[in-house]
Amino acid sequence: MEMPMSSNGARVDLQKWLSDAGEAVNQALTETLNGNGADHSRLAESMRYSTLKGGKRFRPALVLLSCEACGGRREDALPAAVAIELIHAFSMIHDDLPGMDDDDYRRGQPTNHKVYGEGMAILAGDALVMLAFQTLADRLDDARKACRVISELSDAAGWGGMIAGQADDIDGAGQEADEEQVRRIHRLKTARLISAATRSGAIVSDADDAMIEAMSTYGERLGLAFQIVDDLLDVVGVEETVGKTLRKDEKSRKITYPGVVGVERARGMASQLVDEACQTVEGFGAAGRLMSELARFGLNRTH
Ligand code: IPE
Ligand code: IPE
Ligand code: MG
Ligand code: MG
Ligand code: MG
Repeated sequence: MEMPMSSNGARVDLQKWLSDAGEAVNQALTETLNGNGADHSRLAESMRYSTLKGGKRFRPALVLLSCEACGGRREDALPAAVAIELIHAFSMIHDDLPGMDDDDYRRGQPTNHKVYGEGMAILAGDALVMLAFQTLADRLDDARKACRVISELSDAAGWGGMIAGQADDIDGAGQEADEEQVRRIHRLKTARLISAATRSGAIVSDADDAMIEAMSTYGERLGLAFQIVDDLLDVVGVEETVGKTLRKDEKSRKITYPGVVGVERARGMASQLVDEACQTVEGFGAAGRLMSELARFGLNRTH
């Protein structure tokens, strides 16, 4: 993940931390996706295309960082980091399909179905979810923790979480919405997985309930802010930098924060949520400070 350079020491530390963590995550993802050895089927290529080519790795960074903030070791959190990124990749492939947002570009390149066709894109997404849960079952060394993380992720990504949010996002298109409705959709479709990332990092580190709760609150606030910023980038972002086709949400009559509360209020709300996220990690030492920096990066990002 590229961070803006600055003379601020903490920011530079985060840059270094993210580049190390990103490398560890990319290596683990590559190993996981090469698990079937010399599988050069179109299915395997399609899965690798949407997982290994680009992406900020925001969610896996949060898994590792929350694990470290709770006193755990990075290597213990890697399987959960990989699993969350695989679930995220699945959600992006399906989100772009003609039956959903019908998008042609993501991460500055053609979307999965544009390259491999719709059928293969559906299957690649399906297979990435299975691989995520298989990774947790096979690679988390403690069976009790594996079950807890599997339960967290299936709940956060499933029909009571992200997928429910995506369903409401589709059904909401063209409907009038108030603040409560947009908050509900954004919490479900985006904040749930982001808070599952921070919760999972805490769980694998053997954190106590109070720590898990703090990581949960941080992830919820940041996750909601993250989707508000995504909505804002659709309105005010630069297409080449964001790497997606922009000004689409209004055309598709999606329920978004700028649409419901306006650009300025949406900005203020995202900023307030990030302040709240930062407050919840104040007692978590150096890793907590990095978490605050990462939250501010999520707020000020340009892609
Ligand atoms: C985009 O997620 C979709 C949202 C839930 C906002 P990211 O902005 O994390 O996408 P990549 O992985 O960096 O491309
Ligand atoms: C996606 O939201 C949220 C998901 C859970 C997949 P968007 O549809 O706004 O994400 P982008 O803008 O296509 O990345
Ligand atoms: Mg969408
Ligand atoms: Mg979309
Ligand atoms: Mg969007």
